[in-house]
Amino acid sequence: MRIAPENIWGNAVSHSLNYKETPDNVVTLPQTDSRPSGMDKLKITGGHRLKGDIRISGAKNAALKHMCAALLTDQPLQLGNMPATLGDVKTLSQLLEHIGVTVGLREDGVAVLQAKNIMSHVAPYDLVRKMRASVIVLGPLLARHGVAEVSLPGGCAIGTRPVDLHIMALKAMGADIDIEAGYIKAKAPKGGLKGAEIIFPKVSVGATENLMMAATLAKGETVLKNAAREPEIVDQGMALIAMGAKIEGLGTPEIRIQGVSALQGATHDVVPDRIETGTYMCAVGLAGGEVRLRHTRTDFLSALIAPLQLAGVEITSEGDDVLVRRQDSHLKGVDIMTEPYPGFATDLQAQFMAMLTMCQGAGMVTETVFENRFMHVPELCRMGADITVHGHSALVRGVSHLKGAEVMATDLRASVALVLAGLVADGETYVNRIYHLERGYENIVSKLGAVGAQVERCAG
Ligand code: EPZ
Repeated sequence: MRIAPENIWGNAVSHSLNYKETPDNVVTLPQTDSRPSGMDKLKITGGHRLKGDIRISGAKNAALKHMCAALLTDQPLQLGNMPATLGDVKTLSQLLEHIGVTVGLREDGVAVLQAKNIMSHVAPYDLVRKMRASVIVLGPLLARHGVAEVSLPGGCAIGTRPVDLHIMALKAMGADIDIEAGYIKAKAPKGGLKGAEIIFPKVSVGATENLMMAATLAKGETVLKNAAREPEIVDQGMALIAMGAKIEGLGTPEIRIQGVSALQGATHDVVPDRIETGTYMCAVGLAGGEVRLRHTRTDFLSALIAPLQLAGVEITSEGDDVLVRRQDSHLKGVDIMTEPYPGFATDLQAQFMAMLTMCQGAGMVTETVFENRFMHVPELCRMGADITVHGHSALVRGVSHLKGAEVMATDLRASVALVLAGLVADGETYVNRIYHLERGYENIVSKLGAVGAQVERCAG
């Protein structure tokens, strides 16, 4: 049975597109800030409770994959609720343009992408090294064009992050793949990729997405077992179905894809960003106050909401809004452990830890998804937090005060955790290299400013 969009996502809307629309009439977003600004810092003056509304953006980690799906058809793919100003969206646009995709990003969050012709099958090192998600072009390029060369992304700040599962699974579909000079050089067999049964030895978001896209144009059926179940994957699947793909089992560990000979254009609204939503929930938990998060959902955040409520944060769903409140109660210490969805998201671990620094008692944070995702710990400790790391676990003993300091992290979520700590720290906190935050948080300065936080951008 096919899963109907309305059975899964209240907010995600997708349907076939009337092809009179073309990217030609789409205005490309102007650079919001033309000076080299990645080294700018954020100055946060702590001590303000939060009150007001924040509108949640479309999910970065869904948007990037939808953009890659444009490679699967020569017709236009129109995306709504796009986080169009994010650094990662701009980086991927550059890569897709290099490959031959016309990318139109509009200020109102509409993007139209069209890959009429594939001009290059190479994703060069210079572009891939800026953003690991670039490896997701491999599956669609191979499926549509039959050949792809994608630079190996290399390690990153949170772990070694290999792409062996992507390669193993594409080989199972008949691809001939060699690693040469730092590049994954892949060729589909004559007649195209073939459907296969793929059992992932480990749950991988990116490998599931890459293979799901590759399988849409393969000959026959592909079964992905031990597939990732993240809401962004379901959202991607819904967009692919709108493009004519035949996919069943989205949101379950077994996804079945029947290959079709061609996909068509479609229009699709990107699912709200659950990680941005969760980040602002932790911000309210830490700083106190009452904030309405608009245009989002709570159903995909159960694993965060349960421990937040245990810690003393009130969360109420009102249609597309979520009301988050912590009045005068003290936060209690709670233990969490990250896991693939539906477990506690690794992308919210640093923010939850920042919140725990001011709890009564202690909380244990265990990271099981990435091997090196505690880089925020020494920086939080520089602000006065009391955290001890043992292997994959960190024991956070609550303190009564944090103190402002100059801090820095080389990962998006670690950086935002430092911003949250700055909201309650005495005095001023400077979070260096705003570049990391701008990769994944739209308008963070104005969003936090709108709820009463004192955050400003200054030259680095
Ligand atoms: C996605 O990364 C997200 N990125 C990450 O978000 C997120 O932290 C991660 O999923 C887990 O939820 C995007 O969607 C762009 P994985 P991905 O493949 O797909 C290992 C953020 O802050 N692995 O699910 O790269 C890997 O090393 C970012 O927004 C292999 O061993 O993650 C990791 O330990 C950071 N071999 C685990 O699996 C492989 O071939 C899960 O990684 C692939 C992965």
